[in-house]
Amino acid sequence: MKLEEAKKLLEKCGQEHVLAFWNKLGKKEREALLAQVATIEPESVKYCQEALAKGADVPDSSKGKAPKVAVLKGKKLAAAVEAGEKELKAGRVAALLVAGGQGSRLGYDGPKGCYSIGPITDAPLFYFHARKILARTIRYGRPIPFYVMTSEANNAATVECFEKNDYFGLNPKDVFFFTQGMWPGMTKDGKIILDAPGHVFMSPDGHGGLLAALKKSGALADMKKRGIKSVFFFQVDNPLVEIADPAFIGYHVMNKSEYSLKLCAKRDPKEKVGVPMQFGKTFRMVEYTEMTDEQCNRKAKDGSLYFLYGSPAIHVFDREFLDREASQPMPLHLAFKKIPQVDGKGKVVKPTEPNGYKFEKFIFDILPKAKVAAFLAFEQKDEFSPVKNAEGGDSPATCKADMQAKWRRWLAEVGVTVAEGVPLEIDPLYAVDAADLKANGICLDA
Ligand code: UTP
Repeated sequence: MKLEEAKKLLEKCGQEHVLAFWNKLGKKEREALLAQVATIEPESVKYCQEALAKGADVPDSSKGKAPKVAVLKGKKLAAAVEAGEKELKAGRVAALLVAGGQGSRLGYDGPKGCYSIGPITDAPLFYFHARKILARTIRYGRPIPFYVMTSEANNAATVECFEKNDYFGLNPKDVFFFTQGMWPGMTKDGKIILDAPGHVFMSPDGHGGLLAALKKSGALADMKKRGIKSVFFFQVDNPLVEIADPAFIGYHVMNKSEYSLKLCAKRDPKEKVGVPMQFGKTFRMVEYTEMTDEQCNRKAKDGSLYFLYGSPAIHVFDREFLDREASQPMPLHLAFKKIPQVDGKGKVVKPTEPNGYKFEKFIFDILPKAKVAAFLAFEQKDEFSPVKNAEGGDSPATCKADMQAKWRRWLAEVGVTVAEGVPLEIDPLYAVDAADLKANGICLDA
């Protein structure tokens, strides 16, 4: 982009101040600033300003009802597994990972997916995800293309991690990296924030940025070309997730669902997870912050929590639904933060109080748009233990303990008892479930 073009673009959205220090910038800084300006879309700026003017949109959840959640057992489970396996054998299933987050709570300097989590091998989170995909690819004889969303900040390091590790055994042709968008931060009055004289403060546009990025990158077109129907969505920080689980895929297709969610019973009434609720014929994810105390603690007739189930962000989408929604605007969520900002003289000031807004889109905001949605229950201990914090709950320590407890349960199913405290790790390629252990036999490496 040339300077004149940048001026015109910024004038269009009333952000001329972005070039205020142009005359003081060196050649490289000027080039970098022009490259940043080129990514700013006047419509997006307007959209952010409108969101600011409207303020936080906290919808009324008082009329929400608990949706019907399926618990599959016996014949119903077998039928769902069969239907899912049919899809996997036909090569109609893809895996979609959102890994563009900043991982600020964990405080790890690098993409979260590169964080070591293997209790014995120290293998990174990406290893467990990729090997599970590889295991199912081998089992069903068709590739499960793996779409990985990164951010500008972590894309290069993510790709490097895959390359250094030979794609963890996956065929590189079946791995598709794409980068999510960035939004400029803004002051309360809708002015883009400069965090250095030649630099706009920008942050990733949230996991909901996925839709626009899928379209822009060509990932959606690639899915279509490959004949993908069901897209299994998951987050990078949960190594317990059962990627492309046949029962879930099967349940999704049997229901002709556009958006299916795996849900687990909340660990406590106020657990910080989204809760799907039904409003008439549609569904919406209600964030824990939007629920009243009464709603959190309400009891069903059998004494259990009425809003029992929370969402750990494990979804299956119909590809055509993603395609349809990819060009639609999504609501913006505002976060008021302390953002370094240059003053009128070009000096960077670090604020002590929040001074600016970051904007994010959330993927579950498309739930009300689904013509059919389906909800499936699962055991939290089997499939969800995220690495969010450096210490305490949802930390590497709790996650490693939960991974080992799961493997210990599998081993117990095949008659092997491993005492608590004995380190344990099973390569997903060796076994993705207890049935695999039975089939492959067990060789303990003591
Ligand atoms: P979180 O909301 O836990 O955020 O992301 P985070 O960035 O990983 O961690 P904190 O909040 O900074 O500590 C849930 C999932 O959504 C992805 C993350 O990579 C993670 O898989 N995500 C989040 C994105 O892909 N892009 C984003 O802009 C935000």
